Order: sequence, then structure tokens, then C-alpha cells
Amino acid sequence: MKILVTGGAGYIGSHTLIELYAAGHTAIVVDNLYNSSKESLRRVAKIVGVDEIPFYELDIRDRAGLESVFAAHHFDCCIHFAGLKAVGESVEKPLEYYENNMNGTFVLLDVMRNHGCKNIIFSSSATVYGDPVEIPITENCPKGKCTNPYGQTKSMLEEVLKDVQKADPEWNVVLLRYFNPIGAHCSGTIGENPNGIPNNLMPYITQVAVGKRKELGVFGNDYDTPDGTGVRDYIHVVDLANAHVCALRAIAQKCGLGIYNIGTGHGYSVLDVVNAFVKVNGVEVPYVIKPRRPGDIATCYCNPAKAKAELGWEAKYGIEDMCRDSWNWQKNNPDGYQ
Ligand code: NAD
Ligand code: UFG
Repeated sequence: MKILVTGGAGYIGSHTLIELYAAGHTAIVVDNLYNSSKESLRRVAKIVGVDEIPFYELDIRDRAGLESVFAAHHFDCCIHFAGLKAVGESVEKPLEYYENNMNGTFVLLDVMRNHGCKNIIFSSSATVYGDPVEIPITENCPKGKCTNPYGQTKSMLEEVLKDVQKADPEWNVVLLRYFNPIGAHCSGTIGENPNGIPNNLMPYITQVAVGKRKELGVFGNDYDTPDGTGVRDYIHVVDLANAHVCALRAIAQKCGLGIYNIGTGHGYSVLDVVNAFVKVNGVEVPYVIKPRRPGDIATCYCNPAKAKAELGWEAKYGIEDMCRDSWNWQKNNPDGYQ
């Protein structure tokens, strides 16, 4: 298939490009490089053995620009990663988040429809469950109250996409609810490249290990979890990337609307992750216990059975692979893509 990949220069998009090429698909990237660089695409090209990945530096809210991309290519499907994703920043800049994520998707959907491309895979998030009413979380678990504008955009866009598919059943819409992606491609040449101080656990751990930060702050050790620290469903980004290839197969079979949890089904605490990282990589990760981070929940992990049954997808990598590959990327690229 010929796939439009919005946000394809970013962390998950760049890894997905590799799996798309491996599965024989063609991918065209649209990205405004707000949170990424062309270097990731150069490195993806090297990994997959092509001269370059077709790329348009374009904001998806630029309707005329997007129209011209669709005029030049006939796309079978869009994988829609483009969006702003920093939870804390979304609280400080709600308008920018609503504008970019909502409006960007509205323009994209309208242009897709105008050009007869009615297949989309959307990057949703476990955040739509809020503080989940069941653990492990199944797709039947009701959506919860999102505590930040970023999460609201994911939840609202899910509803928009459901309505679009309901109004016109020619649409095939797959909502992938990612749990906590970490890790990197085994080459160690592409990975997560956060700007400034990392918000997320694994990039913070790797920056402590490489000596860029003094110590990890563990946000709370008084949760109702086995060791008191927050429990999450970490998933290797390469497994996550593969879920998109499986979702494309469902789209080719005209799946209509599909909603899937994409996680491993295992919960690891903050200290489990730190200990696994130290053990696998033989490095030190000093940490101090800090107060809870506002908005955090105690436990979040999924039941990924539906994705296995309907998409034929399941995670292959474990927490030690994730820790090894995150470190391999960080130690080879202490300053990311710079
Ligand atoms: P990322 O920031 O690395 O990638 C997103 C890409 O989209 C970036 O390259 C950015 O430059 C681009 N972009 C943003 N707004 C754009 C616009 N208006 N026009 C064109 N390009 C634009 O993030 P990621 O971690 O790769 O996440 C990809 C998607 O998955 C996002 O939608 C994110 O919300 C979602 N998601 C991520 C996580 C996670 O923990 N990483 C978890 C759940 C869901
Ligand atoms: N944590 C720390 N110290 C840090 C960073 C995180 O102790 O410096 C803890 C958090 O308190 C939490 C766990 O590590 O218990 C994971 O935190 P992350 O920030 O890595 O991930 P979250 O589960 O909070 O959120 C992530 C994404 C969201 C997404 C959500 C569910 O950042 O965008 O997963 O998919 F919505």
C-alpha cells in the first residue's frame, strides 16, 4: 500500500517507517519538524537501504499544501502521528494543543475525503481511560476524565473519527491506544529525542545514566502498588511500530471501526524499570524519592487480547530488551540527532 505518514519524522513515526518498508509498503512523510529533525529520516533511509524517504516539510493545518501532496500521490491509507504530545506543556498552552491536534486532524480528514482516501490509523493513548475503572484495561473499559488538554484532544479526536466512520461506512478507522512506548531500533541510530528536560521516565533514566542529569526523581512511593511507585505498561517502540503494519491488514480487509489497546499486558513499577535498566546495562542510575506528580495515576496496564485476536499482533519484546535498546540509542547519541 502507499501510506501517508503524518508526523513520520518523530519517535514512533520513524520506527514505523522501518516496519512499513520491511512489509513492502511505500511511505510518504509529512511533518513540520516542530518536534523532530530530518536527520531521523536520513537514518531511517540508511536502515531500510534507500536513498531517501519521500518527505514534505509541511504543517498538516496548511490545507493548500496538503491538497498538493494528495494531488501528487494516490494514498491507500494515512497513519496519523502528527500532534503535540507533552502533557505538562498542554496544561500551560491549551489553545496551542487544541488548535494543533484538533484542527490539524480536521484539515487532514477533510483533504483525505476530498481525495477519496478513507482509511486512517490514529495514534490514540491509554490516557483516554483516565484513572481506569478496571485493571487490566480492556477496550470495553469506559473512557475516563482526562486531566490535561493533551489527553482531551486524544479522547475528542477518537469521537470525531468514530462519527466520521459512522456517517460514511466507506471509512475504515483504526484507533490504536498506545500504552508507554520506550526503547529504540536495534541499530541504535534512531530513538526518542526529547527537547529540554525529559517528562517521561525512560528518557530521564537514560540521561541520568549518560551523565547529563544528576539523579532521577521518582514521583511518589506511596501509591497502592507492590513497591509504592507508579506501575505502567511499557511497550517496545518496534513492537508498537509493528502494530501499525497489522492494522493496515485490517484496513485492507475493510474493518470499519477498530479500537485496540497496544501494550504488553505487563505492569512494571518505576523501581522495576530502574532496576532492570541497571542490571541489563551495568550502569548506575541514582534516584531520589520526590512527591507525587499531579495528575498521575497509580496503575495502568492493559489486556492486549483483542489486538492479538483481531489484528494478529502481540508484543515480542520484554522490559530488558526495552532497557537495552533505550541505552544503546542514548549512549551512541548523547545529544540525540544534533
Ligand atoms: P513525536 O513528537 O516524536 O512525533 C510527532 C511528530 O508530529 C513530530 O515529528 C512533530 O514535528 C510532528 N507534528 C506535530 N504537529 C504537526 C503538524 N501540525 N503538522 C505536521 N507535523 C506535526 O511524538 P511520538 O512520541 O512519535 O508520538 C506520535 C503520536 O503518538 C502522537 O500523536 C502522540 O500523541 C501519540 N502518542 C505518543 C505516546 C508516547 O508516549 N510517545 C503515547 C501515546 C500516544
Ligand atoms: N516518573 C518518575 N520520574 C520521572 C518521570 C516519570 O517517577 O522523571 C514516573 C511517573 O510518575 C509514572 C511513570 O514514571 O509513574 C511513567 O511516567 P511517564 O511520564 O513516562 O508516562 P505516563 O504514564 O505518565 O504518560 C505516558 C505519556 C502520555 C500518555 C500516557 C499513556 O507521557 O502521553 O503515557 O499512554 F498519555
